[in-house]
Amino acid sequence: MAIGLRAGKDAAADTATLPPPRRPRHNAPDPCAPNAPHRQWRGPPSINEPNVSDPAVTPTETTAAATTEPSVTVELKTIVELCKTRGMIFPTAEIYGGVRSTWDYGPLGVELKENVKRQWWRSMVQLREEVVGMEQAILGPTEVWQASGHLANFSDPLVECVKCHQRFREDHLREEQLGAEDAEGDLQCPTCKADTLGDPRSFNLMFKTNMGPVETAGSMVWLRPETAQGMFVDFATVQRTTRKKPPFGIAQMGKSFRNEITPGNFVFRTREFEQMEMEYFVEPGTDEAWHQYWIDERLAWYTDLGIRPENLRIREHGEAELSHYAKRTVDIDYFFPDASMGWSELEGLANRTDFDLKAHQEASGQDLTYYDQPNDHRYHPYVIEPAAGATRATLAFLFDAYRVEQVPDAKGQLQERVVLKLDPRLAPYKVAVLPLSKKDTLTPTAREVFDLVKVRWMSEYDETQSIGRRYRRQDEIGTPYCVTVDFDTLEDRAVTVRDRDSMTQERVAIDQLVAYLAQRLPGC
Ligand code: GAP
Repeated sequence: MAIGLRAGKDAAADTATLPPPRRPRHNAPDPCAPNAPHRQWRGPPSINEPNVSDPAVTPTETTAAATTEPSVTVELKTIVELCKTRGMIFPTAEIYGGVRSTWDYGPLGVELKENVKRQWWRSMVQLREEVVGMEQAILGPTEVWQASGHLANFSDPLVECVKCHQRFREDHLREEQLGAEDAEGDLQCPTCKADTLGDPRSFNLMFKTNMGPVETAGSMVWLRPETAQGMFVDFATVQRTTRKKPPFGIAQMGKSFRNEITPGNFVFRTREFEQMEMEYFVEPGTDEAWHQYWIDERLAWYTDLGIRPENLRIREHGEAELSHYAKRTVDIDYFFPDASMGWSELEGLANRTDFDLKAHQEASGQDLTYYDQPNDHRYHPYVIEPAAGATRATLAFLFDAYRVEQVPDAKGQLQERVVLKLDPRLAPYKVAVLPLSKKDTLTPTAREVFDLVKVRWMSEYDETQSIGRRYRRQDEIGTPYCVTVDFDTLEDRAVTVRDRDSMTQERVAIDQLVAYLAQRLPGC
């Protein structure tokens, strides 16, 4: 989180004595119900040793007993390499030398990222009657960012080396060299290894540009640094047109832009990235319980999609770290198993109070209150914000799914297989159709099978290389099921379906194939 002002008096107001949230009128569980499921899991307190405990691979028709030796550490460079060789994610404009820390998503990468976003939308909007979606323009006027506090506060402390003139984030250097972002002490330039750093300066992270043919002060517009403000600025229109009553939410996914001083770690921190944010408007006094409710919900979203629970933790923001609008903020951190990354933020969950609605009301002169008709009472709802990064979550899902296993080949020799054990809902392709041979005799039936599955799921048809290599290729990109069409298929109208994780194979009639796969690909 980059906004650096500390929470003011308003944000620190104590609502503990106020009544608990009312029972909601929709299908969201009431966080205060006596028997409400309450996930209080907090994750490990410190460095995690990833405990990979996959079941041993089940013997298959073509393989004997297999042992599983998953990696306990995965280096970032391994993930970067996999993404590059498989055309998932690679540098932008690489033929021109690339642009620092800017990445393109290839055919598989865009499927994976869009699946992450689809699952977020499904859980946050589609399955909730009280949450609606929207999409705000990326370019916005100065007034929005003035009112939100971004023009004044959205900055990082920057130090410049007087010798090599490189610039660094002061808080990052303090963490690296002194052990904590706010630790006291002298810093050294990481390049010159000397006390050559100047005084810290505040550096605003927003990108600006001009709209229209003439550059004037009035033509200046900003690329949004977060998707959140759209939900505050459009609050009245969305509330009025949807007739939602608190507690209700407005959600949005899309690109945000920050001129980060130190982007890096692949797609973990970039200047152009995607966010998935929801602003949940609640009656003041019910905010603390709703905040806890959303912390638990969001943690469960990651584990439901396959992130190992021991690789997640909740981290509470200290007083000094709280943003100017926040009463309480926690991060969901993921343990990235690369030595240089470790525990890092995936998502922030803030209680933003009524700061934003009040700020935009004051700046725009428009009424941004909610009218509670039964009680003839107007108020500014408090806001609970789960703010996740789509591109960052994609990286976490890749890390968590990555396994290296030793499996026997046809001759019983142990071979290494790299497998992405992605939840099928996230896997770029759900099914690969692989004719055993390129021979023309198999093609019409293989194409017929492909036509059957491709209308239902994102699928691939691949007839190149040996079948073993094609299985390995699909394992590496996380395809849950491979369907092989062989010469027997021409006789018995059945295909062999291979399961990515167990590597077991089953013979399935073509006319049963879609039903067989549908049972194994729920939610896909
Ligand atoms: N509206 C609040 C907000 O934007 P944030 O913690 O600054 O909060 C939310 O951002 C999430 O967006 C982060 O937890 C992270 O996942 C993602 N994010 C933020 N900056 C990012 C960057 N430079 N690159 C990739 N993802 C980023």
